Amino acid sequence: MNALIQKLTESFGPSGAEDPIRAVIRAEIEALADEIRVDPLGSLVVYKAGSGQGKRILLDAHMDEIGVIAAYIDENGFVRFTQIGGLYPLALVGSRVAFGNGTVGVIGYEHKSVTDKIPSLDQLYIDVGATDREDCPVRIGDPAVFSRPFVSQGSRLLAKAMDDRIGCAMLIETLRRLDKSPHDVYLVFSVQEETTLSGARTSAYGIDPDLAIAVDVTDTGDTPECLPMAVRLGEGPAIKVQDSGMIAHPSVRDLMVQRAKAAGTPYQLEVLVGGTTDAAAMQLVRAGVPTGCLSIPCRYVHTPSEMVDANDVEHGVQLLLEILQST
Ligand code: CO
Ligand code: ZN
Repeated sequence: MNALIQKLTESFGPSGAEDPIRAVIRAEIEALADEIRVDPLGSLVVYKAGSGQGKRILLDAHMDEIGVIAAYIDENGFVRFTQIGGLYPLALVGSRVAFGNGTVGVIGYEHKSVTDKIPSLDQLYIDVGATDREDCPVRIGDPAVFSRPFVSQGSRLLAKAMDDRIGCAMLIETLRRLDKSPHDVYLVFSVQEETTLSGARTSAYGIDPDLAIAVDVTDTGDTPECLPMAVRLGEGPAIKVQDSGMIAHPSVRDLMVQRAKAAGTPYQLEVLVGGTTDAAAMQLVRAGVPTGCLSIPCRYVHTPSEMVDANDVEHGVQLLLEILQST
């Protein structure tokens, strides 16, 4: 799966500008689909027909990634920016960002006003090497994403945009391995999770599923002096119990636990204090959709280098297959 994960994480697709990543995903999955369409907000919806005896199951992963967006360009060509999704200024200084036209910039900070303090976003700027506003190749409203290569080191995988290209890779891999399912399966590669959860919300409304599962990343509690959390890297995908935006539907949570036991895959239970996923939006469409979330433990979420463990990814795919292939 590493080649697929590399391709997906190194692609461009900040919230609101997902066309490039959608084309990459479409090329990987089109031949496996019974139907494929782009819904009105831009999410890619892939349908695989079941044998007719099952449910309508929606699996979701968001294809958008966090980034920055040019808000003001000064007379010397330095670009002031704001965030697409949630950024930590602490993790930004010295980072490289790439715009859709290929322009790369480095994030600098106001030396005079920021000494040993953590800068705020408005004390940072992007330097693309321009000399003035006119020769700056960036326009107001241009989005950019982190520029980092994918690295595989032992079982650990490092990349920008693991959130949530790892979920996209898992959905593609699941469909590749899916051998007969009783269920009608809908895979949604959603837009704009990082900003408003809007792609999953509207896609779920259109599909009207019996059951929905978001596949996304979650924090871990296994790094020095971090906030206490039971989830650890490499100890299995996490079945969400609760986060700050939702309580997973008990029936879906229990189904996932039961299927993990049946498949013999390790799993962890997740209670996340801060953050949420597309699952929070999907459970509230129409009269309500029983919804759960499968989380891949991830260190340094929303930084330029997000780390996951390949074994958690593999076990996550096995769990999804067990869910789809049994009644
Ligand atoms: Co995120
Ligand atoms: Zn995410």
